[in-house]
Amino acid sequence: MMTQFGKRRGIVLAGGHGTRLYPLTKAVNKHLLAVGSKPMIYYPLTTLMLSGIREFLIISTPQATPQIEDLLEDGSKWGISIHYAVQAEPKGLPEAFLIAEDFINKEPVGLCLGDNVFHGQGLSEQLEKAASIADKATIFAYAVRNPESYGVVTLNAKGGIVNLEEKPQNPQSNLAVPGLYFFPGNVVDIARELSPSPRGELEITDLIQHYINDNKINVSLLSRGIAWFDAGVPRSLLDSSMYIDAIESRQGIGVACPEEVAFNMGFIDKEQLHRLIYPIKSTPYGEILSHTFGLRRR
Ligand code: G1P
Repeated sequence: MMTQFGKRRGIVLAGGHGTRLYPLTKAVNKHLLAVGSKPMIYYPLTTLMLSGIREFLIISTPQATPQIEDLLEDGSKWGISIHYAVQAEPKGLPEAFLIAEDFINKEPVGLCLGDNVFHGQGLSEQLEKAASIADKATIFAYAVRNPESYGVVTLNAKGGIVNLEEKPQNPQSNLAVPGLYFFPGNVVDIARELSPSPRGELEITDLIQHYINDNKINVSLLSRGIAWFDAGVPRSLLDSSMYIDAIESRQGIGVACPEEVAFNMGFIDKEQLHRLIYPIKSTPYGEILSHTFGLRRR
């Protein structure tokens, strides 16, 4: 696959049935639902953009892929390149790497789950650091009240991993592993070796375990100054919307707007930014963008 930009690739996994949000997701794919003033998929996309990635593959269902393509197009307006692939039936997160084999082309890759929302001070630096490491995997850890709903990592005093489990009934720590992972170029080979868990899916924790066994992994702790939501259940969908809305309306600065991130990352210039904002300047989304850049006429 031809690439225009840097080597590291980014995948947003936006498939699945969204069962936990039924009936919201009966007719609309989860990743097109609103979080604050924008579609959910803007969040994982901009998270990976903040790490410096410009070459993307979005994986979704047969029904939703054309709709997501209508929304995001080929990415050129944001100075990035977006390809699309279909996952017929969800068979677990590591399947993303098998679907993306040609796209990955043995280069390092970041994966963000389509319903994961991140925001906060210092996040960009942590992302850029993770994306700059090519020979090791990086996972993140975030303290939560309900670790049993997530992958859970237990660390020793030196920050080394002593245990990693998927949705344990009795978690050994309160550190959840968010749906954001950076892997070296051999990830496809490792994903291919995995067998389905008792629930019949390939598990991301089994994939990560390979890197733990080989001592080729870093854990990056997300501090309490960073917000992480998994917007895939009704409560967190609402919480994340309210959080984003509170920040945006209080500060007047957009969160997870690809136009803004593309400009700040140097992917587009000021003229292109103006071209993007001008046609939508009287919409609430356009207003917040204009305000962010001080383009509003007083
Ligand atoms: C998945 C992963 C889990 C991770 C979570 C983050 O779970 O399997 O390890 O902590 O995403 O959102 P899911 O929410 O798909 O059940």
